[in-house]
Amino acid sequence: MTKFVLTGATGQLGSRVLQHLLKLVPATDIIVSLYNPSGATSTIKESGVEIRRGDYADPASLGAAFAGADKLLLVSHPAMAHEHRVAYHKNAIDAAKRVGIKRVYYTSLAFAGDTDTFVMRAHLDTERYLQESGGVPYTILREGVYSEAWRVYFGFWTPAETSDEVVIPHGDGPIAYACLDDLGEATAKILVEAGYENETLLLTGTRSFTLKQIAATVSRLLGRDVKLVVGSEEDYLKANKGKPGLRGEEAHLRKFATTYKALERGELDLKDPLLQNVLDREPKSFEHTLRESLGLHP
Ligand SMILES: NC(=O)c1ccc[n+]([C@@H]2O[C@H](COP(=O)([O-])OP(=O)(O)OC[C@H]3O[C@@H](n4cnc5c(N)ncnc54)[C@H](OP(=O)(O)O)[C@@H]3O)[C@@H](O)[C@H]2O)c1
Repeated sequence: MTKFVLTGATGQLGSRVLQHLLKLVPATDIIVSLYNPSGATSTIKESGVEIRRGDYADPASLGAAFAGADKLLLVSHPAMAHEHRVAYHKNAIDAAKRVGIKRVYYTSLAFAGDTDTFVMRAHLDTERYLQESGGVPYTILREGVYSEAWRVYFGFWTPAETSDEVVIPHGDGPIAYACLDDLGEATAKILVEAGYENETLLLTGTRSFTLKQIAATVSRLLGRDVKLVVGSEEDYLKANKGKPGLRGEEAHLRKFATTYKALERGELDLKDPLLQNVLDREPKSFEHTLRESLGLHP
């Protein structure tokens, strides 16, 4: 019997992993390590999994939360703040080593190579820590950009906006999006399967889309003329600062702006067959999710 401990199980990705893992193994083989156990969802509470408290900022809590498990799913901390993120991930990896976890599965992000993109720095530092510190076998899951997150790259645009001009900095390029449910299902299957020891895996879509193509599709679907404008970083800040819901403040936007240089270099054009192979079916198409998120019938 293999015992699994999942972090991030209340989040967008972790909740999907849990949902699919519950179809593969008995609930009694699963522990969820929650930052805030009182915030456990009804799905978690009703599933029969064991709930423990594990805060990335509190190493002792992580040791207690992971004890007795064989495999740990370490979902990356959602903050942009690089130092906190890496320190939190190191706390979890060190705790995993202390309590004898046999494999750490770390959810990284699907950028190519040794990118200098800000959002990847904490992932790359964590990957290096896993690879170089030794002591615990690992599998790095470079999860594709969520199809559901297309607006984050597309100037935070929503149909409710009166402006049909989407301003991005630096450049455009293709992204091989994957939807959250497919990523959750594939991650759960990889957790259960043998293999992938000390490997870095890419879970991405089989087709990629530029932001210009998204502008054309959104225009067609909504009967509007949504235009993509590639401007300077200042143009991007001016157009997007203060937009609701997406941390549209200046410091965050400046960090995120580095992503568009990577986009232009093709660093997100990573079409890998693994997601499709693990799912044993076609991943859900990006256009399907795009239609859903625009409130259209898929
Ligand atoms: N691939 C992509 O396109 C993409 C897009 C967006 C984000 N990401 C990244 O992928 C990761 C997972 O994404 P997500 O969308 O699932 O994130 P999410 O929905 O924000 O979930 C984050 C999870 O981390 C937990 N958490 C927060 N602070 C914690 C702490 N101190 N200790 C332990 N757990 C803590 C949260 O628990 P509570 O619910 O208790 O707060 C939540 O379960 C994040 O690093 C995120 O930045 C990837």
